[in-house]
Amino acid sequence: MCGIIGFTGYSEAKNILLEGLAALEYRGYDSAGIAFFHDNRIDTVKTTGKVSSLRDKAVLSAGISSTCGIGHTRWATHGGVSDINSHPHTFGKVTLIHNGIIENYHELETELAALGKFPVSQTDTEIVAMLLDSFYEGDAVAAIKKAIPRLEGAYAFCILFSDEPEVIYCLRNGSPLVACHAKEGSVIASDMVALIKYSREYFVLPELHIARLTKENITVTDLNDNAMTPKMLYVDWDMTAAQKGGYPHYMLKEIHEQPESLRSTIMPRIKNKLPDFTADGIPDQVFDGISRIIITACGTAMHAGLVGRVMLERLLRIPVAVEIASEFRYQDPIIDKNTLLITISQSGETADTLAALRLANKHQAATLSIVNVKGSSIARESDYVLYTHAGPEIAVASTKAYTAQLSCLYLITYHFALIRGTITESECTAYMEQLQTIIPAVEKTLTLTDAINKICTNLADKEDLFFIGRGLDYALSCEGSIKLKEISYIHSEAYAAGELKHGTLSLVTEGIPVIALATQSKVYNKMISNIREVRARDALVILITNGDLEVDSAIYDYRIALPHSDDVMTPFTTAAVLQLLAYYTSVHRGLNVDQPRNLAKSVTVE
Ligand code: M6R
Repeated sequence: MCGIIGFTGYSEAKNILLEGLAALEYRGYDSAGIAFFHDNRIDTVKTTGKVSSLRDKAVLSAGISSTCGIGHTRWATHGGVSDINSHPHTFGKVTLIHNGIIENYHELETELAALGKFPVSQTDTEIVAMLLDSFYEGDAVAAIKKAIPRLEGAYAFCILFSDEPEVIYCLRNGSPLVACHAKEGSVIASDMVALIKYSREYFVLPELHIARLTKENITVTDLNDNAMTPKMLYVDWDMTAAQKGGYPHYMLKEIHEQPESLRSTIMPRIKNKLPDFTADGIPDQVFDGISRIIITACGTAMHAGLVGRVMLERLLRIPVAVEIASEFRYQDPIIDKNTLLITISQSGETADTLAALRLANKHQAATLSIVNVKGSSIARESDYVLYTHAGPEIAVASTKAYTAQLSCLYLITYHFALIRGTITESECTAYMEQLQTIIPAVEKTLTLTDAINKICTNLADKEDLFFIGRGLDYALSCEGSIKLKEISYIHSEAYAAGELKHGTLSLVTEGIPVIALATQSKVYNKMISNIREVRARDALVILITNGDLEVDSAIYDYRIALPHSDDVMTPFTTAAVLQLLAYYTSVHRGLNVDQPRNLAKSVTVE
């Protein structure tokens, strides 16, 4: 989704803005632009395409030509991808950038048209510039305060008023903004990846508060003009964590970071061989009185929930529903104080997941979130948070966050099964030992990289593909399918293998790749029968199964043998294989692995 950066300080603003936008590229975008004060006026440069094109268009001087400006990467929602629709937008004395959607923009546009004011773009954002300008009578804060009650929807704005050089005003509702003051000056951005170069200490701009950035400081006031001091947060990773570190793509780097992110997520939560959430501030009573668990999330995070459901139901014996957040929030769901809502999100800012959480809070359900980004909206608004310690995830395709989310779900399961007495202490110790074995097991799986790369040469020219599995393998099939389709653009579907005969088998013809997951002993023989069925239709079968099994080589074309682990732990190793399959298929198709077309890393609008 759109990326925002604002800077006012002592260095060349254009450079800082362009660097910030480059750092935010991973969020996904189709055009970019900057606006900056220069000779007491505001200059704007914007273009469709990449930040590198914007850099070519912006005339960079050796000295300092501007020390204050705002920059934006746009992911089109209202209005097509064009230079004119790119941000920043200027109307009269107001120039601004926006992340979000103004839902009532059409109504505002009609009102402004009645006053003889017409936009030049098709965006909702320009309407806000027009609205602010119409309220502006020399007092920026007064104009912003007048505009707020007129705006419906989610937004984060950075605003320049031509009368106030070197000052940036910022406001948010729903969409994220984080800020810091450093020796270079004041910086604000959509996320920490653009700020980390300047400071590891930062704050999240509270919703419906106005930040005023100057060279010297950042002041934050509420809508009654009361000054407030936002809580400072500290990031526990540095710049290198957000760089490629010698890998050709962020995705490959992040796949290979999984042993470390699993170690960092699991190990600090083990005390006396048992799971321990004391440092996370999660009390043992969270599940007291809970009769129902709902896991809600989007995309890959939702797929982690599918695995979580199996684990939680198996050991806690509490019914668990997994809901796609964008569906859940509009279903008038049954939620009460005996419901525990678990939200899962890498970014902690996904609009639908956040809305689902707010709905649960409204109904007084207990809420627990599994989040990667510290201090993000979902983390702040949940009763309890279990952070994944995966570090920054830059590639749009989620990899290390997913396996870290799984590990959190396993920790929650074991911890609360012990508290509820559905497992004994010795069983829990044994489960925790098993969980730790996934770290070396994933490490070993990653040594299969070259073999998987070779297999992918057979997938690169395909247009359709299927993933099949049963039980946990079905949950993993869903994840394998989204990973492959989002970065390789190959149409793929995940099917519960037992469903094949109910329709899907008609699509299986000669040469159609079927990635068959057979890691679960309870349904292994059933799975082998399903594989024989697709094999009999001449499918190209890629079998993923445990390495220590004897398998009839007639049923597959390629076999990927997982290092030994207990059935319940195979989601971690299988995930690594599926990620590599998607990665190398995308590479062989010559695609942009890290920034697939039309997709955004953090989906902050509906
Ligand atoms: O930041 P979140 O975990 O809430 O994001 C949810 C999905 O948008 C995300 O997992 C998406 O499906 C990934 N691109 C898949 O790889």
